[in-house]
Amino acid sequence: MRTSTAQRLPVSPVPQPEIVRELRAFQWNGRATKRGLTSVGLAKTKPIVVQTFVNEFWTSKQRAAHSLHEVSYRACFKPQLPRFFIDRFTAPGDVVYDPFMGRGTTIIEAALAGRVPAGCDINPLSPMLAQPRLSPPTPEEVEARLAALDLSRAVSYPRELEAFYHPDTLREICALREHLMARQQNGSIDAIDRWIRMVAINRLTGHSPGFFSVYTLPPNQAASIDSQSRINARRRQTPPRRDVRQLIAAKTRSLLSDCDSATRATLLRSVQRATLMTGPARSTPQLRSNSVSLVVTSPPFLDVVNYAADNWLRGWFGGIDTAAVEISMYRKVADWQASMTDVFREIARVLRPGGHVAFEVGEVRNGKIKLEEAVLPCGVAAGLDPLLIVINAQQFTKTANCWGVKNNSKGTNTNRIVVFRKQ
Ligand SMILES: C[S@@+](CC[C@H](N)C(=O)[O-])C[C@H]1O[C@@H](n2cnc3c(N)ncnc32)[C@H](O)[C@@H]1O
Repeated sequence: MRTSTAQRLPVSPVPQPEIVRELRAFQWNGRATKRGLTSVGLAKTKPIVVQTFVNEFWTSKQRAAHSLHEVSYRACFKPQLPRFFIDRFTAPGDVVYDPFMGRGTTIIEAALAGRVPAGCDINPLSPMLAQPRLSPPTPEEVEARLAALDLSRAVSYPRELEAFYHPDTLREICALREHLMARQQNGSIDAIDRWIRMVAINRLTGHSPGFFSVYTLPPNQAASIDSQSRINARRRQTPPRRDVRQLIAAKTRSLLSDCDSATRATLLRSVQRATLMTGPARSTPQLRSNSVSLVVTSPPFLDVVNYAADNWLRGWFGGIDTAAVEISMYRKVADWQASMTDVFREIARVLRPGGHVAFEVGEVRNGKIKLEEAVLPCGVAAGLDPLLIVINAQQFTKTANCWGVKNNSKGTNTNRIVVFRKQ
């Protein structure tokens, strides 16, 4: 595949949809949108050429995200990203789908906007994080349930986790885990239990007293036991006592701080038709053909993130055998493209005519590979029309090289979104 990026061409070759006019006219802090063309040459067919727009199209400064989003997850995107496309490509009641759901940023933003959420992820951890926030209990309900729990005894006690936790804290964590797993197994688990499990998963490890653990990596990654022991030795730290109930209650109040009665009413209407799936994105028979108005998603970027390693402790708490989850990881772009093409075929099936896909990728391998260029042939092979590429550049300055990589760490300081349309 031969590619060339971002030639600055003044004239657009296709009629201008509304979004193109809007992106061209967009200004952020007085800065005009940069425009160009991305062209991917294919050996046997005509090159794929799409208009490409660069600016700071969304930022936390423009609109604060809803408090319900504030759970950490490796390689999640900001809620402003799905909102940008939801606002432009859908109406209330439309189905918005994320085949690589992660913590559920797209589906929660969709539900908050009165759209019908649909999501899929191969890791059972994903619905554990996403689903409870679609039907949140009240802080009072959570606190009453926590108060009724006996966390003083646990059957199992994995001593090696004392690298992270004070023994009394670890006993409480184990007792809570066993209680939730028993409720899951006997079918009595309810929305309050699921909420408590989601919050507990998010409090397992982190670098402040708001987490159950001693100081460790940020909460979206878990250190191995060996590396945590090294962190402890280097920092001369031993895990302090933390109150599991109190930390869950505090995080619950913070997550629910924007959940007024209007939000709850909107969520309730939206989630009645929600579809959440655990499995590979290439096969989603639960979703009807031609039923989805918009897909907003972000797949694994080759092998940049090791979701299994980062989530081992969360998986343990949730009773998930993380090693058995077949998370897509590819070293070679061609293998990644083959896998993404399968996913695009399934997306093309479920998308309604006129529906859109916003497929977010990042730069990888220090900018040598631009995955947006790799994505274009995948969508086209699935029969979708490439519409445009939106590059959201954070810290967009006059000197920043927005087409390439600067200050880049693991390809994530720009969001590069390829937008397709189904005819
Ligand atoms: C970049 S993350 C998505 C993050 C999401 N946008 C968010 O904001 O939380 C990619 C997700 O794809 C999931 N995944 C990996 N392989 C998959 C597959 N074959 N099918 C479905 N999901 C998969 C991973 O478990 C991970 O949650």
